[in-house]
Amino acid sequence: MWKDIDISLEKTETPKPKPAVEELGFGRHFTDHMFRMDWNREQGWQQARICSYQPFEMDPAATVLHYGQAIFEGLKAYRGDNGQIYLFRPLDNLERMNRGAVRMSMPRFPVDLILQGLKALVYLDRDWIPEANGASLYLRPTMIGVDPFLGLKPADNYIFYLIMSPVGSYYAGGFSPTKIFVCRDYVRAVKGGVGEVKTAGNYAASLLAYEMANKAGYTQVLWLDACERRYVEEVGTSNIFFMLDDTLVTPPLGGSILGGITRDSVIKLARSWDIKVEERPVTIDEVLAASQDGTLKESFATGTAAVISPVGELFCDDTGYPINRGEAGPLAERLFEELQAIQYGRSEDPFKWTMRV
Ligand code: COI
Repeated sequence: MWKDIDISLEKTETPKPKPAVEELGFGRHFTDHMFRMDWNREQGWQQARICSYQPFEMDPAATVLHYGQAIFEGLKAYRGDNGQIYLFRPLDNLERMNRGAVRMSMPRFPVDLILQGLKALVYLDRDWIPEANGASLYLRPTMIGVDPFLGLKPADNYIFYLIMSPVGSYYAGGFSPTKIFVCRDYVRAVKGGVGEVKTAGNYAASLLAYEMANKAGYTQVLWLDACERRYVEEVGTSNIFFMLDDTLVTPPLGGSILGGITRDSVIKLARSWDIKVEERPVTIDEVLAASQDGTLKESFATGTAAVISPVGELFCDDTGYPINRGEAGPLAERLFEELQAIQYGRSEDPFKWTMRV
């Protein structure tokens, strides 16, 4: 149980100019306010507040800077045509973050309180939610350990904060198909490790392979399993799906893969359209062979930032394997349209995924 905590509000006196929609990109601009709450082992969570977006001081010895005690989430707020503001599955993000907190020996937080703070923050900075279709307000809840101490143990002090960024497409090419580099040299995560946790170190460890792939002209890396380097796991920013004949296949969650909320939404939507979906181990050899014999109809990645991102080519062992002649497939298009229609409140929400602010 958590004691009742009030959220205080201190509005900024110097609101910033808002960027034009064409300048948004992803994660470059930040709104006027942020949410913050502190935790220490004696008093638990306290001092929940909404304040102006600002840097905070941290000791150079802070746990997060040395031992990486950091978890975060990504979710979005959308402005519907009717002016209404919608959040997409916010409780799923907050509950996933709390599961991550347990795995990273960090304190769990009261979901209701954070949701209340999150909604108040979105409402306060509502003029930052871009109105253009495809654009949204990206929310980044984050928790870090901040003890000024170099001994290795879970921190006794944490900061939970939430910042917001108006965003357009994650990839500069928007919905244009991406080219993905299959990584054989490095691995992302092992079962029993922290691959299923949205923790900073997973992303740091992916950067070298990403950089190599990017220099060679590829958008992202496709990770294989750490033991045999045969089974497909996930893409750098997203989960991955393959339409193999008439079955939509995605790797199962087994501890090393992030359980994406867009992934789950895609599975549920596709099943509701009577499309056969299998969460099963899939080897890279099966995928490449299917791309050659024509049974791989299409492929796409899914994530909050990337939404639905069609894959036009896989590059593996010095060979390029085009998918659907390098074009976005019909299922990716349908899923993209339907998800966005739900997220912007334009269509029925049969799964009750959206929450009004
Ligand atoms: C998200 O999709 O929300 C993520 O956190 C992925 C990140 C690499 C942008």
